[in-house]
Amino acid sequence: MQAVATAHPNVALIKYWGKRATVGNLPATGSLSLALGGLSTETRVRFEAGRQGDRVLLDDREDAETSARVTACLDLLRGEAGVTDGAVVESRNDFPTGAGLASSASGFAALVVAAAGALGLKLPPARLAEIARNGSGSAARSLLGGIVLLKNVGTGTDCTQLAAPADWPLEIVVAVTATGQKAISSRQGMALSEQTSPYYPAWVESHATDLDAGIAAVRNRDFPALAEFSEHNCLKMHAVMLSTRPPLIYWTPATLACLQRVRALRADGVPVFYTIDAGPQLKAVCLPEAAGEVATALAAIDGVHQVLRSPLGAGARLRAAGD
Ligand code: DP6
Repeated sequence: MQAVATAHPNVALIKYWGKRATVGNLPATGSLSLALGGLSTETRVRFEAGRQGDRVLLDDREDAETSARVTACLDLLRGEAGVTDGAVVESRNDFPTGAGLASSASGFAALVVAAAGALGLKLPPARLAEIARNGSGSAARSLLGGIVLLKNVGTGTDCTQLAAPADWPLEIVVAVTATGQKAISSRQGMALSEQTSPYYPAWVESHATDLDAGIAAVRNRDFPALAEFSEHNCLKMHAVMLSTRPPLIYWTPATLACLQRVRALRADGVPVFYTIDAGPQLKAVCLPEAAGEVATALAAIDGVHQVLRSPLGAGARLRAAGD
């Protein structure tokens, strides 16, 4: 009754910010993301016969909000398997947790794959994605590798791979500008934006144009078009965040310095663009030949603690025994 799974965080180029429904954690809009193969979460789930309740350790620490979300996901899987035993969950990230590097995405993707494996469940991918989405909207995307589209379909969502890592081997350079946990989670932030930002309705209304353009850019392997729509969509999401009350300001001075540096590099012909999620880290998406130069340029910026380089990664998977 135990299994271990690995998953990678993902970074959204065309983003999700806001819910269509709280029940089922349904996103208001679709999204398009890249799997960061150089960063990993590893999660071990062990169901113990007769155990009451779950114990959840994230990087050796317990946290009530995370534990409640994990238990909600495990309840859905226990329901599928017809068991009631509690579980011990141990999850580790090899990158900063809760600071805008999508640790919840890789965390919940690894959780559902490990828990389903431990319970011996062979669920259809769509059901596994639905359960992962309950834990974190972006987690469904980390079940798949490469470039992934999460679309709203009917009363649910549909998650598909648009390109495998080898189809378009983009590279991502992450500039880490702060490593602490963020004060407001994405979930709380989204709820505040929905309630208070005058730009929120415009964000939702104008989103399909960005998503369609992003999908076309991936299908055509059109880097300049992907750059244009990704940066626009990122700044539009941050405009919603900034116009939320109280404001959600995730950037540090170094985030902005990195953004300006990426703009300058692209103006000089370097194939790179930026994106920033609900945190201070800047992710620079590059054609592989540019990654070295971009990493050197970002590492030289004041306030950048660390630069991580990542190829596109695979989807969440079970680790074989002894792996
Ligand atoms: C800014 O998936 O972390 O990274 O579903 O409430 O857990 P919950 O939120 P989460 O939000 C991701 C927000 C984002 C954009 C994105 O990844 O699309």
